[in-house]
Amino acid sequence: MLLSADPLWELTAACGRDTRPGRLDLIVGVYRDDSGASPIMRAVRAAESRLARSSTTKAYVGPSGDHRFLASISELILDDPSVRARATAVQTVAGTGALRLLAELIAATGPDRTVHLGVPAYVNHQGVLRAAGLRVDTHPVADMLAAASVARPGDVLMIQGCCHNPTGYQMPASDWDALAEVLYRRGVVPFIDQAYFGLGDGLEADLDGMRRLLRVVPEAYVAVSGSKAWGLYSERVGAALVIGTSPARDRALLEGAARVSYSQPPAHGAALVAEILTDPSLRSCWRDELESMRLRLGRLRSGLALRLSDLPGFAGLSTQRGMFLTLPLSPEAMESLRVDHGVYGLPTGRINLAGLPSPRVPEVAAAIRAVAQPSVPAP
Ligand SMILES: Cc1ncc(COP(=O)(O)O)c(C=O)c1O
Repeated sequence: MLLSADPLWELTAACGRDTRPGRLDLIVGVYRDDSGASPIMRAVRAAESRLARSSTTKAYVGPSGDHRFLASISELILDDPSVRARATAVQTVAGTGALRLLAELIAATGPDRTVHLGVPAYVNHQGVLRAAGLRVDTHPVADMLAAASVARPGDVLMIQGCCHNPTGYQMPASDWDALAEVLYRRGVVPFIDQAYFGLGDGLEADLDGMRRLLRVVPEAYVAVSGSKAWGLYSERVGAALVIGTSPARDRALLEGAARVSYSQPPAHGAALVAEILTDPSLRSCWRDELESMRLRLGRLRSGLALRLSDLPGFAGLSTQRGMFLTLPLSPEAMESLRVDHGVYGLPTGRINLAGLPSPRVPEVAAAIRAVAQPSVPAP
């Protein structure tokens, strides 16, 4: 079967071919600093030096991965020991690998299970779910509670844990509580994708809603990505967590799905995260750096929001959270932003805030204004 190329990577390549000096790549979800670099975090550098001195082998890590990594990431994500006691964790090839392994587990535990997915969704969710043979029903992302209320027992509700990609929606704690009640009552299982924790309202706040929900529901799936929070995109760090009552079955299914796909996960990135999380000084260094990334994203967002808030439909920009900002612009306006101003975002209006150098906020805001209101000259 010939698959069509991903527009995200096509546009990234087009941006790379664009020779205009000021052209700006706001497409791929990678954190960048004001100089445009995607830096290695200081805690990661320090952990790498330590590992370079102390590691003794490149032998396989085993089918479930690095146990030190799994224990420390489980403790970070699932703060409640009673939830952790019901959890099975397997290291995966980043967040995408976790999504895929969990999708395989869902498919293997009930051929009639439907996954309910809010749209607009993360661009790869449908593909990963369908690749595992799952049926996917979509609903407007704001109607999650309604979708959960009509789902059948055993069905699955896909939820992004924080900083929704692409809408930037951050669900308030009260909505998490209401959702937990509906899921529990209807026997619907949450499938939570945690890819941007720490980049929304702060590490604890970003995980809080999910943690509250996990105390209520008997069963849940959590896909954890280490790509954004540790800047370890290319190292492919992730974990699949299953909270439930059949740990032996769940582990066998996850490891079985991994075995026929990539066999065993990569070691290096997970070892770095384990080193950082288990060492108090590295952990606090990491948290500080993550917090400064979050604050920078917040400043960029409010800088744009302030300059655009008078435009129709733009008033809500400041309420969005995370790495992305979805501009209420048509695909044609996004094309004009690209062609006439050299600012590359997705046709859906999504831009990666982190790719925007702070000094260029006024200029990019003016370009957005120009394409949003082509006939009105910029003030
Ligand atoms: C919502 C969401 N989930 C999961 C992922 C997968 O991330 P990775 O496989 O790089 O860890 C991404 C990446 O952009 C994402 O935006």
